Amino acid sequence: VSDAEVPPGSASRPPRLFALLGGRVEHSLSPVLHRAAFDALGAQASYGLLAVEGEEVGPVMRALARQGGGNVTLPHKGKAAAALDRASGAVRATGSCNCFWGEEDGTLAGDNTDVEGFLEAAGALLPGAPERARILLLGAGGAARAVLHACLGEGAASVEVLDRTPARARGMIREVGGDDPRVRVVENGPGREEGGRRAALHPPPGARDLVVNATSLGLGPGDPFPVDPAALGGAAALDLVYGERETAWVRAAREAGSEAADGLGMLVAQAAASVRRWLGVEPPIGAMRAAALRATGRDR
Ligand SMILES: NC(=O)c1ccc[n+]([C@@H]2O[C@H](COP(=O)([O-])OP(=O)(O)OC[C@H]3O[C@@H](n4cnc5c(N)ncnc54)[C@H](OP(=O)(O)O)[C@@H]3O)[C@@H](O)[C@H]2O)c1
Repeated sequence: VSDAEVPPGSASRPPRLFALLGGRVEHSLSPVLHRAAFDALGAQASYGLLAVEGEEVGPVMRALARQGGGNVTLPHKGKAAAALDRASGAVRATGSCNCFWGEEDGTLAGDNTDVEGFLEAAGALLPGAPERARILLLGAGGAARAVLHACLGEGAASVEVLDRTPARARGMIREVGGDDPRVRVVENGPGREEGGRRAALHPPPGARDLVVNATSLGLGPGDPFPVDPAALGGAAALDLVYGERETAWVRAAREAGSEAADGLGMLVAQAAASVRRWLGVEPPIGAMRAAALRATGRDR
């Protein structure tokens, strides 16, 4: 049979090799997600973890791409973007690549599937979002760039950006948003005395539909909240941070009356989008999510 007639990842193809490249990769859930997907699809493929230094990123991507591809995580998403022969629009807009693969002609291709992952997670939390939504985006790092690009591309009404470092927020808007009038930096106000846990950022009052935490606050057990859950004003809260249980901010936001979700849904969705790029088939997202819940011992 010709190659075109062989289902992607089927037993008649040589086994394919995928891996996550990053600085610290040992606690990643990516192998759990991708192995669950390959098992459910019956694909002859494996997924490993590779801790790499910056200068190794390009050569290792190229070597893997000859047999499959992979994902890239902190702090190498920018270097991965620069190493590509063919970058997707999302990579060009965000300067960040988290998913790569080799084309038949040897081209090293890549995408930023955090964009698609965010859109899935936002839509699951707030149906229709981010279209026509008024959004407060906390953070201006790599994840925030993916969120900003996704929100502008999908018709958000407005995006306010609040980062601890205003110059970084302005730089991100310039590079990702161009001069789109829907985006602006908002100033960090003075912290108020709050009854419970401290908050790191203090947005001005305003009517919002969705607040996205794209800072890394919540990864550490003693971290302050990104913003005071009581100040959400009913807006839905999407935390990109995820862990062995829902983050304290998500639980507090729900108690304050907001719809809320942590980053597990986005993690599963960006991984599913990677499977679609690599194998060209519909990913078994239910099996992937179930595997993530099993691995973390979570029930939602
Ligand atoms: N769920 C998913 O699929 C998914 C995908 C991608 C990322 N993420 C998560 O998103 C988070 C951010 O990732 P990233 O790649 O964007 O990281 P990054 O590029 O290092 O950016 C970190 C962001 O957090 C802010 N920050 C860190 N410590 C802070 C503090 N003490 N107070 C206020 N702001 C603080 C930084 O502010 P400054 O600009 O002031 O430094 C920056 O905006 C991580 O937790 C990551 O795991 C999740």
